[in-house]
Amino acid sequence: MQVISGVIRKKVVPMKAQIKGIGHALPDRIMTNEELETMVDTSTEWIIERTGILERRIAGVDTAASDLSYEAALMALERSGMQAKDLDLIIVGTSTPDMLFPSTACIVQDRLGARNVPAFDLEAGCTGFVYSLVVAEKFLLSPEYNNILVVGVDICSRIIDYSDRNTCVLFGDGAGAAILGKGSGDTGILGTYLGADGSGGQFLCMPGGGSARPASHESVEQGLHCIKMDGSEIFRFATRITVDISEKLLGAAGYKYEDVDLFVPHQSNMRIIKSAMRRMKIPEEKTVTSVKQFGNMSAACLPVALSIYEEEGKLQEGDLVLLAAFGAGLSYGGALLRWGRDKDVF
Ligand code: ACO
Repeated sequence: MQVISGVIRKKVVPMKAQIKGIGHALPDRIMTNEELETMVDTSTEWIIERTGILERRIAGVDTAASDLSYEAALMALERSGMQAKDLDLIIVGTSTPDMLFPSTACIVQDRLGARNVPAFDLEAGCTGFVYSLVVAEKFLLSPEYNNILVVGVDICSRIIDYSDRNTCVLFGDGAGAAILGKGSGDTGILGTYLGADGSGGQFLCMPGGGSARPASHESVEQGLHCIKMDGSEIFRFATRITVDISEKLLGAAGYKYEDVDLFVPHQSNMRIIKSAMRRMKIPEEKTVTSVKQFGNMSAACLPVALSIYEEEGKLQEGDLVLLAAFGAGLSYGGALLRWGRDKDVF
């Protein structure tokens, strides 16, 4: 409170979008590097040396993106102390929706019983969660929206060609969910940054199944319904953009690399993560490296990591958290957060 010329003024605290609760869902089945050795011409040594990945989770044939999203959403709701009826909007960031339409977000809305709230999918490849988080943050500026479910989910195994050693060793399945709401304290989203470079779209794509090349016998025979990737191009882009995003976010908010308590880069390859850590001088103990256990779960990587780190007590109230992601598009983006939530407001 401030006293100016005898008038008592309440300090105006700007609204900050806060993560009120976070959850995740992972399939039980573990696919090891040894198993991949029996499927393609690869070796456990190669995979570990070039990617750092030890194993990944693979969804059962009956599990769709909406199933994992639903489970993750329930955990996030429980941890936020809210119920589905408290939600005003649902956004699902995914490149592997249950089907082209209806949206996975509408399927999740129905299963949660969050009747009539708007729901839509957002496609930004591996940047899907960050894009969805930023869109939700903008919705929260409106008085009509108070609590938003944001999901990052991908069942990458459905669009992988398990005879292509360049891609099949990298990906896994999972879902993470966050309830984003309004906060009035110091914690919450401090800054966000989004971008895209469409000229690099061909380096990471799934060419078949859309209006350009709809499903046909030929499209299936040519493997167009699977991920096509130029690994070296993506590698170069990823190492550069992860540092760019981080510099922009920290610079705009007046922080330095040494202020970061938890660096959460996109989990695609340990070499990309290590290159960013080296350039930013952020030590491994302050960096999420869940790619080792889960591989690249695309849009799910960041929320799953946040959920597990909070569960394990590695993410504490007041921590400065830096998110940086990139993916198909080529899209990229990040967010800077002060971890924690108001106890009394939602
Ligand atoms: N096992 C054995 N050998 C392999 C394998 C494998 N699984 N995969 C590729 N190789 C071979 C290649 O065929 C190549 O052989 P060649 O020289 O005879 O042609 C050799 O290994 C070297 O290939 P490089 O591409 O140079 O290997 P690199 O060290 O770059 O690692 C990798 C490849 C792991 C794909 C790396 O480039 C990478 O991680 N890139 C980034 C990928 C990424 O981040 N993708 C996700 C993007 S986010 C999203 O939206 C999905």
